[in-house]
Amino acid sequence: MHLPTTLLLLCQSHLTHATPPKRGLVYIGSKTSPTDDKTWASKNTDLTWYYNFGSNPTPSLSNTKYEYVPMLWGAPTTSPSSGTFYNTVKGLKDGGMNITHVLGFNEPDGATSTGGSAISASDAAKIWISEMQPLRSLGVKLGAPATVGSGAGILWLQAFFKACGGNCDVDFFPIHWYGGFGGLAGYVGSMRATFGNGSGNVKWWVTEFAYPQGSVGDAGAFLNESLKWLDGQADVERYSYFGTYRTSVSNWVGPGAAMLDGEGRLTDIGGLYLGTRDVGTGGAMGMKSLSWGLLVLVVLPLLV
Ligand SMILES: *[C@@H]1O[C@H](CO)[C@@H](O)[C@H](O)[C@H]1NC(C)=O
Ligand SMILES: *[C@@H]1O[C@H](CO)[C@@H](O)[C@H](O)[C@H]1NC(C)=O
Ligand SMILES: *[C@@H]1O[C@H](CO)[C@@H](O)[C@H](O)[C@H]1NC(C)=O
Repeated sequence: MHLPTTLLLLCQSHLTHATPPKRGLVYIGSKTSPTDDKTWASKNTDLTWYYNFGSNPTPSLSNTKYEYVPMLWGAPTTSPSSGTFYNTVKGLKDGGMNITHVLGFNEPDGATSTGGSAISASDAAKIWISEMQPLRSLGVKLGAPATVGSGAGILWLQAFFKACGGNCDVDFFPIHWYGGFGGLAGYVGSMRATFGNGSGNVKWWVTEFAYPQGSVGDAGAFLNESLKWLDGQADVERYSYFGTYRTSVSNWVGPGAAMLDGEGRLTDIGGLYLGTRDVGTGGAMGMKSLSWGLLVLVVLPLLV
């Protein structure tokens, strides 16, 4: 194959880059750099959905193509029987918003100091029956409580289903994972073995994942391998990489895994996750798209 043909094929494969329909955003707002929202809201990303740990949409993302997925984060601060989450979601639907899925508790088995909602399995079951279960008759699909990615998380979920006594229907299982790729694939396998029914019909969403405390190279290699794998698993319906922050505020996940650098530009990891096209304020991947564009402009006219 001579050189111009190789270049043309490379250009074509770049231009026909398909949108992965599963990819979403874990949105965490930044008080110190709210303009970063422009990057997340760019219409050139590959994202199709988002959640924000709350039950109301994020204003800066409401004019995007992204589907919003509300979450019942933890125990309601009012009485568990007040129906707060149910009413909020019903209100959004009645207002014309296309709500098709909701997420259950965020890390109910985790301490509040690490972002968990710290609820007992029996309290969670009671709240589920009053706030989540009735949404099913509105046609909304329900995501199981998202436990910490560990054997203890699986035990909490088993206790939850026992406490439910058959009264909690779950349509899909969110999964959290922080660690290497082998561990991610292995943990999804454990969830399948424990809560799948062998038919391949049970759906999984990986709603938080990252390679924490590694170098940019480690985190990038992890993301590359994970995305390829997640896109190829038929029973993994959706996934969302953690999260929308700069290297400077990446706390325990570590700066290597961040999608934005200290100035709010996309890192290679951010560019990889949001899509290879030029989005937001630029950064390394933006330059890569620009150079491909120049290649197409310069090389194509020579060939045709
Ligand atoms: C609502 O969202 C679902 C899932 O993304 C999609 O399949 C469906 O077509 C949407 N419905 C409307 C009315 O936009
Ligand atoms: C397995 O679970 C799926 C989803 O809940 C359901 O549609 C299917 O009928 C179940 N199959 C069996 C064999 O239980
Ligand atoms: C991901 O893989 C691509 C293609 O193999 C490579 O060019 C890119 O540098 C990798 N990205 C990261 C962040 O490691």
